[in-house]
Amino acid sequence: MATRIPRIAITSLLHHSRPRRGPPINLRLLPRPLHTTSPSHHPKPPPKASHLASLLLTTSLLLTLPLLSKSETSSLDPSPSPSLPLYHLSEIHQSHGPTSPEPWVTLNNKVYNITSWLPAHPGGDVILRAAGGSLEPYWEIFTIHNSPHVREILEEYLIGYIHPSDLGPDGKPPATSIEDPFVNDPVRDKRLITHTYKPRNAEPPNQELDKGFYTENGMFYVRHHMWVPEEDGGELVVELPDGEERRYTIGELKKRFKTERVTATLQCSGNRRNDMTRHAGKTNGLQWGVGAISNAVWEGVKLKDLLRDAGLELEQQENEKDMHAWFVGREAYSASIPLPKATDQNGDVLLAWGMNGETLPRDHGFPLRVVVPGNVAARSVKWLSRIVISDEEATSQWQRRDYKSFGPNEGGKEDWDKAPSIQEMPVTSAITGVWVGECVKKVSWMPGGGIGSGERVNGGGRTIDMAATPQKVGFTPKPTSSDGNTPCPETTPDKEPIALQGYAYSGGGRKITRVDVSLDGGATWDQAQLVDDCSNPATPCYGNKSWGWTRWRYNGTLPVLSLPPTVPLPPALAKVGQGCEDGFGRSVSLMGQLPKKQCTTLIVKATDESYNTQPESHKGIYNVRGNLATAWHRVKICPECTKGNGGKGGLVWNTGETYGCGFRKEAEEVREGMRAASESTGNGK
Ligand code: MTE
Repeated sequence: MATRIPRIAITSLLHHSRPRRGPPINLRLLPRPLHTTSPSHHPKPPPKASHLASLLLTTSLLLTLPLLSKSETSSLDPSPSPSLPLYHLSEIHQSHGPTSPEPWVTLNNKVYNITSWLPAHPGGDVILRAAGGSLEPYWEIFTIHNSPHVREILEEYLIGYIHPSDLGPDGKPPATSIEDPFVNDPVRDKRLITHTYKPRNAEPPNQELDKGFYTENGMFYVRHHMWVPEEDGGELVVELPDGEERRYTIGELKKRFKTERVTATLQCSGNRRNDMTRHAGKTNGLQWGVGAISNAVWEGVKLKDLLRDAGLELEQQENEKDMHAWFVGREAYSASIPLPKATDQNGDVLLAWGMNGETLPRDHGFPLRVVVPGNVAARSVKWLSRIVISDEEATSQWQRRDYKSFGPNEGGKEDWDKAPSIQEMPVTSAITGVWVGECVKKVSWMPGGGIGSGERVNGGGRTIDMAATPQKVGFTPKPTSSDGNTPCPETTPDKEPIALQGYAYSGGGRKITRVDVSLDGGATWDQAQLVDDCSNPATPCYGNKSWGWTRWRYNGTLPVLSLPPTVPLPPALAKVGQGCEDGFGRSVSLMGQLPKKQCTTLIVKATDESYNTQPESHKGIYNVRGNLATAWHRVKICPECTKGNGGKGGLVWNTGETYGCGFRKEAEEVREGMRAASESTGNGK
């Protein structure tokens, strides 16, 4: 029997949700003041709407800010009010935990009853994680709470103090009594470049990135906003617009539905954010290199099949195009996609329990995650517990705030409601490997690749770790020079070979049709070879559209470049000289002391089947959030005469510190800048 889908308000949706287990609460609902059992506690008034609005803003930021140094959490109350009672930690822990009807939290020596705050908390259920214990470890993750403004709100819920016998000499509960929410996080591959540990955010180094068409599970980038929840054996709940619920166990999903496979790349909207920071200005958020992207074959059940089974009859709904499918994760993250994408016959949205032929790893959503091919990965919710069909998009900050983009002039005063949430991703590409000179012979995919003995280095085995600075990308034994006595030759050899590799990807299932490469800063262009991985029986592709990335390869010859003088310049001059470019990515002469064209800039840009192509510069697409950093990817390489090669002399090629994953130093600088700004304004901006 067909289910009628009425247009419903989110309030009714919330009404039908399980208390504090459903989608994050609509902030338009003011919390009801509740009465506490505490004899001396008078009910607190609900927080003011303006408080809620600013909390929402700040929370949106806190969830993308990197982990900062140990916080100066709420100052200790030196003189507890005698009118308020004292509580033992054991009592708070036992009687006011996450499942209690009246959850309490502590901070330093204070006790707060947060029951009436819960419906207003922008992070939804997350705060319950701290119930029965201290807020401290959570505020150390979500550092934005460490502002006087947030503390002021919390103070409205103060009901008493921790008994002095439970406090350490510093007047706070001992560290051992404070839970580490990340204690059960899985162990990760050490090769990943980690941006933050708690929560874990990490990307594969370049030599691993596109080593294969399918990214190894342990090398798949990791993007968490919180901890990895433990499996609770819980079911998946599907909630229809009329409030009706259907429950499924994972076992049932596997048994009752056809198992499907989909090849899909996941990419964070912050991929290449560090590029934007370096080329256009400071951005908020994790400073990802080119590795917040990975590709896998996912196994599971199609969402459209499940929704139909749950009773959603779309044919009879006029307003389907305006509706949304919400996905709620077990640790409280949530996001949504337009319903037409969820139910599209060719949309391939999957509820996945398998990844690259293995059980879905915990870091990637075990036991069940949504995979929304072609859309920003923020919509592919992990640890899925609930699906809700609604007439408005998810109200979480991850839907309505974080994953949006703005104009270059809108920094700091962006109109969040005006900008649409990012869904389908624009076209992008990146260089992940460079070989120059003799090294080219070792590239596995080059004709005759694998020097000597016919040895074939597995794809990318010789790619360069671009996080290192400066990084050598090649060596040419001749011309020899720079042993301190013989002068450098004036120019690099003619027809110096170069090989490049990388990936290109476009959202919405749009196929990559062309990848352009320039070896001279954009003055001349050539086309790269697109790797047809889907035709390789070892890496078959699944799905109705091009949801996976396209790997590309290029080999050519470098333009002749002037070599720097053998006599080293004074450090200050050398530094300035290296920083000067002529607009084509080439170094310019500094008062005649450095030769022109000392370096060259390699560029890649991709085009998809709709003739969408990447913008030339990050300046034009700059947004303070650093989202969708899709400008041409540039890599500067500079020749240098050196003894090298066991003292025989030759030409080495350095990449400088301008590209690839990591950018540790610059990421640090950006964090430092944000920390300073946050300290000066108290709100993280
Ligand atoms: N789902 C949950 N439950 N929690 C999260 O923090 N992060 C989202 C998305 N789904 C997230 C989530 C974001 S922003 C991204 S980019 C992808 O997961 C990353 O997926 P991965 O860690 O499997 O690469």
